[in-house]
Amino acid sequence: MTIHIGAEPGQIAETVLLPGDPYRARWAAQTFLQGAELVNETRGMLAYTGTWKGNRVTIHGSGMGMASMSIYANELIRDYGAKTLIRIGSAGAMQAHVQIRDLVIAMTASTLSTPSAGILRDLNLAPCADWGLLHAAVTAARARGARTHVGSIYSSDVFYDERPDLNEIMTRHGVLAVEMEAAELYLVAARHQARALAVLTISDHLLTGAALPPSEREQSFGDMVETALQAAFA
Ligand code: ADE
Repeated sequence: MTIHIGAEPGQIAETVLLPGDPYRARWAAQTFLQGAELVNETRGMLAYTGTWKGNRVTIHGSGMGMASMSIYANELIRDYGAKTLIRIGSAGAMQAHVQIRDLVIAMTASTLSTPSAGILRDLNLAPCADWGLLHAAVTAARARGARTHVGSIYSSDVFYDERPDLNEIMTRHGVLAVEMEAAELYLVAARHQARALAVLTISDHLLTGAALPPSEREQSFGDMVETALQAAFA
């Protein structure tokens, strides 16, 4: 057990999918895993371990924001030996050609700051996905026929953004979408020689104001979960 994860040693798989929402962790485990067992509920952060096509997987909520992701990524890697960590979550589109329901697979994630800034100080280290996972996820997503974009994203510290000028700069620099966790996941994984990736579903659009209807969320998120599982075990 760690401060934030109640699982016994051995109850967390080497491959961990990380949705922000603990209830989405439960839904994904019940929908995609065989023999899923609850292994953590400390602070309501649900985690399940089961198998997918015979491969052991944990689906663990990360919470919202990089501070929360940092806690779980550190403990999963350093205390439980997780080696492959894939964020699955929603994102807001920042480009006109990126549409609601599309998948975005993040090569890199820009930030204003992350919890790692205290270590990096003035070093502008680019958080970077694992190439093997990235390649496998793109192949899997395209084989499923999902509309898929690959490129950079922005990991924001705030959902209620008071700086539209910053979003405009991101859009001008080709940033595909905004979310709130990937950059810190990439940095923590790199620091501890683990593999990391973020596979995201576009749930809202910053340029048009469009949003995914709640009734369609499950099907769209299903493509993302299956893409992440196929990438993890490619
Ligand atoms: N996740 C989904 N949509 C988002 C948005 N618009 N901003 C930040 N994170 C998000």
